[in-house]
Amino acid sequence: MIQIEHDQGIVIAGMKGCGKTTVARHILAKIPRKRIWDPLGQYVDLGSYKPKSGHFGTIEEFSFFIEQCLKEKNVFIAVEECEQFAGHGKQLDELLNVITMGRNFGCGYMLITRRPVGANVTAFELADHVLIFRLRGRNDRRFVEEFLSDEYADLAAEICHLQKYEFVYVNPDNVAKKMPPIDL
Ligand SMILES: Nc1ncnc2c1ncn2[C@@H]1O[C@H](COP(=O)(O)OP(=O)(O)OP(=O)(O)O)[C@@H](O)[C@H]1O
Ligand SMILES: [Mg+2]
Repeated sequence: MIQIEHDQGIVIAGMKGCGKTTVARHILAKIPRKRIWDPLGQYVDLGSYKPKSGHFGTIEEFSFFIEQCLKEKNVFIAVEECEQFAGHGKQLDELLNVITMGRNFGCGYMLITRRPVGANVTAFELADHVLIFRLRGRNDRRFVEEFLSDEYADLAAEICHLQKYEFVYVNPDNVAKKMPPIDL
């Protein structure tokens, strides 16, 4: 299906219950060296890290997690519920660290979010692979329309009408295509 190299970036966005975590788990299962920030404990069988402070973890704990990942080098860093730690101030810095610094250390990344506007533009623009499931919010849709080039205006308009588990996939060559649900 979608082949991710260990040093590439991927963003998965879409509204609640559209299949982000399911596709993320499929991809991560095939990546040997990975560290997963897992606030909801959905990747425990893949050896994930569940924050100990608060429901989604604190910024301090998140920063520490990222620092440790980057120290290890050549690991793939996945962040679930990433909008909790992106969008403004210090949190954004931490995420940009993963994205920009991580690459110098051979680290790839996966960011998973319900709200692309709450995540950040850089994450989308620097990602090699982008998966966009159905979105409902007006701002989120506008964000995606701007992200997809004019060539894909029709596809962008379809984002809010995608069926359950369908998604638009933008590959490393920036070719966008509507994809059927993955087979479970
Ligand atoms: N391709 C698929 N085919 C059939 N069922 C699916 C598929 N993808 C996801 N599901 C089912 O849909 C439900 C929601 O999926 P999932 O948890 O992956 O969504 P999500 O986008 O991560 O949701 P949330 O925004 O709440 O985190 C799960 O029960 C899952 O098994
Ligand atoms: Mg999920």
